[in-house]
Amino acid sequence: MTTALITGATAGIGSAFARRLAADGHNLALVARNTERLREQATELHDKHGVEAEVLAADLSTDEGIAAVEERLADRTHPVDLLVNNAGFGNKGEFLEVPMADELTMLKVHCEAVLRLTSAAVRGMKERRRGGVVNVASVAAFVPRGTYGASKAWVVQFTQGAAKDLSGSGVRLMALCPGFVRTEFHERAGMGTDNIPSWMWLDADKLVAEALKDLARGKTLSIPDPRYKALMGVVKVAPRGLLGGITSKTGRKYGPR
Ligand SMILES: NC(=O)c1ccc[n+]([C@@H]2O[C@H](COP(=O)([O-])OP(=O)(O)OC[C@H]3O[C@@H](n4cnc5c(N)ncnc54)[C@H](OP(=O)(O)O)[C@@H]3O)[C@@H](O)[C@H]2O)c1
Repeated sequence: MTTALITGATAGIGSAFARRLAADGHNLALVARNTERLREQATELHDKHGVEAEVLAADLSTDEGIAAVEERLADRTHPVDLLVNNAGFGNKGEFLEVPMADELTMLKVHCEAVLRLTSAAVRGMKERRRGGVVNVASVAAFVPRGTYGASKAWVVQFTQGAAKDLSGSGVRLMALCPGFVRTEFHERAGMGTDNIPSWMWLDADKLVAEALKDLARGKTLSIPDPRYKALMGVVKVAPRGLLGGITSKTGRKYGPR
């Protein structure tokens, strides 16, 4: 049996990863801040699938929280074979409207935690010559979209760069770029979603199934769903200025106001 550690495992995409990996027979280490939700989920997955599910309550916006997960990942006696860096959130508002402390917290959770946890996990994986890391980014990585998009662009570049450095080592790294997914994300950020067309919404379980297929295929970048693959193809060739205008408007309409 292998073990997967998932951050942000109690809701949305992380929860879908936990369900799918437990169903596939992997033991789990579940990370989030809310201990009660973690325990409930661990019990449910253990009872349903017979896997071991340990819980690790940690706030990845703090040094202590990141260090606690680093320590777990570095434990050679209980190796982690798959790390899913998924914890993340959105901030309501445009540039200068979001308090600086919230912008910095986003960079800590989306970038520093991902860098430190990936490093902690990959050291042991390299020695064992096997393992995988999925870093959850977003299609927002490919459009000018404030600190959120910039942090996810960092996740994509970091992951693909590290994957190249580790090629041939037996360790796979993949950046996962979802479009809109029905989770707690928008509600937590206080963002309205009424105007997002229904065709743009993805299902978290289907997204995870496609992501795991892409990881098995050895991809370093996964954009699940043909609709978003096509959209990102257009984004690649669209003029940057036009793109900035559209994504900025999209933010106003679908976002906080
Ligand atoms: N939903 C979308 O449309 C969408 C699209 C593209 C990319 N994404 C990305 O997908 C990832 C998961 O998002 P989601 O939509 O599944 O969100 P979600 O439903 O709000 O779930 C977020 C998860 O992260 C945990 N979390 C948040 N802050 C944390 C912190 N400081 N430390 C530890 N855990 C923390 C939450 O649990 P606690 O509150 O208990 O800590 C929860 O388990 C994020 O990285 C997000 O940027 C989402």
